[in-house]
Amino acid sequence: MTQKITIIGFGTVGQGLCEILAGKKKELLEKYNYRYSIVAVCDPRFGTVYNAAGLDMERVIAELRADQKFTTDRYPWDALETIRNSNADVVCELAFTDLKTGEPAMSHCRTAFETGKHIVTSNKGPAALAYAEMKALAGQHNVDFRIEGTVMSGTPVLNLAEGPLAGCSISAVKGILNGTTNYMLSEMEQGLDYTAALEKAQSLGYAEADPTGDVEGYDARAKVTILANVVLGEKLSIDAVDCTGITALTAADIMAAKAENTRWKLIGSITRSKEGLTAYVRPERVPLTHPLAGIMGATNALTLTTDLLGDVTIVGAGAGKTETGFSILSDLLAIHRTETILPDNRL
Ligand code: HSE
Repeated sequence: MTQKITIIGFGTVGQGLCEILAGKKKELLEKYNYRYSIVAVCDPRFGTVYNAAGLDMERVIAELRADQKFTTDRYPWDALETIRNSNADVVCELAFTDLKTGEPAMSHCRTAFETGKHIVTSNKGPAALAYAEMKALAGQHNVDFRIEGTVMSGTPVLNLAEGPLAGCSISAVKGILNGTTNYMLSEMEQGLDYTAALEKAQSLGYAEADPTGDVEGYDARAKVTILANVVLGEKLSIDAVDCTGITALTAADIMAAKAENTRWKLIGSITRSKEGLTAYVRPERVPLTHPLAGIMGATNALTLTTDLLGDVTIVGAGAGKTETGFSILSDLLAIHRTETILPDNRL
């Protein structure tokens, strides 16, 4: 069976995904018997294109690179009409993240579920603000809500907790969850000033469209909320996570930490104890001997405290075009695997 894909929002992640799919087409077929067809792309800047038999993605990407509106297979549809009207099996929701309302992504997800389509997304809005609702609605319609790319890009932390670590009880997670700020802190230690470090992180595609979300800690707070819901099974709301970003940290603070064999890191943490749940994002001075101190650049790391294995730490990419594009591919393949193995009982 060919998996039919609609892409909503054709920015960095969507383009990263398409490059991977095109480059690995043969390998994906040979190794996993995976065939795909991109049937629709909808982007506010370039327009909507749809072809039930599959778009000519070389043309779509060439037009996008030339910064011109799509010309062929055009439809006058907005995102919701594209989701409703396309014949896709899976909608890749890759529109911008809004952590206040979750929109328009939340409406995109609801429409996909209600029309029997899976959602694969790296958008933190729906998962951080309405995980339980999204999961329940997907379940009612016998489709999936897959969100690996919302935390640590393609580094498989959510799938690790839900798959290989199933059977363990996870009582705490702690780590570095934002690539932009970790990159900035690393660069500032090398002597770059705050503004130049942020500009570099933006040019490398790590930062959010509005980087306030990174430097104020809101992006990490959304990830902490998602981890609490998915990995710890807690109904934590985003407002309950204490949050301080890195904006108050000066070059002098960073150098002072270095002189004392410590390093500032923006830490996200959740702990479940008898007293209840504690969740926060804040800069902490970590001794250089601590494993998190060695995590530099846009790399992320997370330690999961389990009852059966003790601490398990996963380290990997936290942001980036290919890295997040891969998170989408891994979820697409997971849906393909499930449907291949259990064609009549997807969930
Ligand atoms: N802006 C985010 C980061 C992107 O820097 O980690 C990945 O979620």
